[in-house]
Amino acid sequence: MATHKLLLLPGDGIGPEVMAEVKRLIAWMNQNGLGSFETEEGLVGGAAYDAEGVAVSDATMARALAADAVIFGAVGGPKWANVPYEARPEAGLLRLRKDLGLYANLRPAICYPALADASSLKREVVDGLDIVIVRELTGGVYFGEPKTIVDLGNGQKRAIDTQVYDTYEIERIGRVAFELARKRRNKVASFEKRNVMKSGVLWNEVITALHAREFPDVVLEHVLADAGGMQLVRWPKQFDVIVTDNLFGDVMSDIAAMLTGSLGMLPSASLGDLDATTGTRKALYEPVHGSAPDIAGQGVANPIAMLGSFAMALRYSFGRLKEAELIETAIANTLDKGLRTADIKSEGTTVVGTRQMGEAVIAEVARLAGK
Ligand code: NAD
Ligand code: IPM
Ligand code: MN
Repeated sequence: MATHKLLLLPGDGIGPEVMAEVKRLIAWMNQNGLGSFETEEGLVGGAAYDAEGVAVSDATMARALAADAVIFGAVGGPKWANVPYEARPEAGLLRLRKDLGLYANLRPAICYPALADASSLKREVVDGLDIVIVRELTGGVYFGEPKTIVDLGNGQKRAIDTQVYDTYEIERIGRVAFELARKRRNKVASFEKRNVMKSGVLWNEVITALHAREFPDVVLEHVLADAGGMQLVRWPKQFDVIVTDNLFGDVMSDIAAMLTGSLGMLPSASLGDLDATTGTRKALYEPVHGSAPDIAGQGVANPIAMLGSFAMALRYSFGRLKEAELIETAIANTLDKGLRTADIKSEGTTVVGTRQMGEAVIAEVARLAGK
């Protein structure tokens, strides 16, 4: 069995708490012949800033580049509210994404039947929901230059963020979305604001041309992003794959999370290009949620987004589809049994902490695997 080298970056707040459950799962898989993983740990975010003065060190970057995959917890928190902008915890995650070339962020939002009542929306709106947001992750206003605050000298300051997209960036994320749609329900909705932004005009042009040239069999719809946000809460099941830019993708995926019941449910995969010669790609797997300072340290965080992110690593980095499905089925079954962390609790369910939920999912993996 091939051995996979993982770099674990737990980060801050609930990051280490949910990562502990992935470590437990990895140990179980190693012991029971369901995988062969070598893990190393590193510092990122506020934890790295406290120890090393930067949000991610060059040495950690080198280890991330050498790993088969990076598993990332969460970064940030009020403790680091006043550190220099360049060293803020979130800068560590942004550097990892940029320097590893992880331009494609897949954020699947699945509403498990058992959780249809945990959403703030009506059951019929979310029950059976299964959509994927394909978020462009290394471009747009997150990285465009100039990005600065200028002192105008008259008591006024000017803040500048720059939205930049080149043709190739839109084309490659579009390709990821169309290819994914072909394996699903064959529908792509492209969100932009061509009515206001030049980047929206180019986004629309490039996606339209790519569709005509390479993916005419896929159903494509262009949606103005503000209306798209509205449709996402009005009738989300109309969508299959949504492709959008870095900032719209960030906002839409937090909205999508609530359709599934909680931010604690949404996993994600951040992927680079597949190397044609080695057949491998750089990748980082991260829950969509943050460090949740309001519940950190209490052992109550939901580990499902983190465990689901590890399942995505098995699928997208290691081709171990059977094991990925095993974990996902175990999550669904555990919810069916009525076990809930506090963020997804409802009447008649049993509320458990992070560790009990992790252990219950692993026990169910074991049962399904006949171990
Ligand atoms: P957040 O995602 O940390 O929390 C938002 C709300 O969702 C909170 O009420 C929190 O308790 C709840 N929540 C999130 N994850 C949960 C889980 N697994 N289980 C149960 N409840 C959960 O967003 P925020 O409060 O806006 O940001 C806090 C910090 O996290 C900020 O510093 C932000 O920059 C950072 N952040 C980091 C990441 C990341 O590391 N990938 C992502 C988003 C935000
Ligand atoms: C996310 C987060 C990050 C983002 C932050 C922490 C940099 O909100 O992954 O959704 O904005 O991309
Ligand atoms: Mn976000």
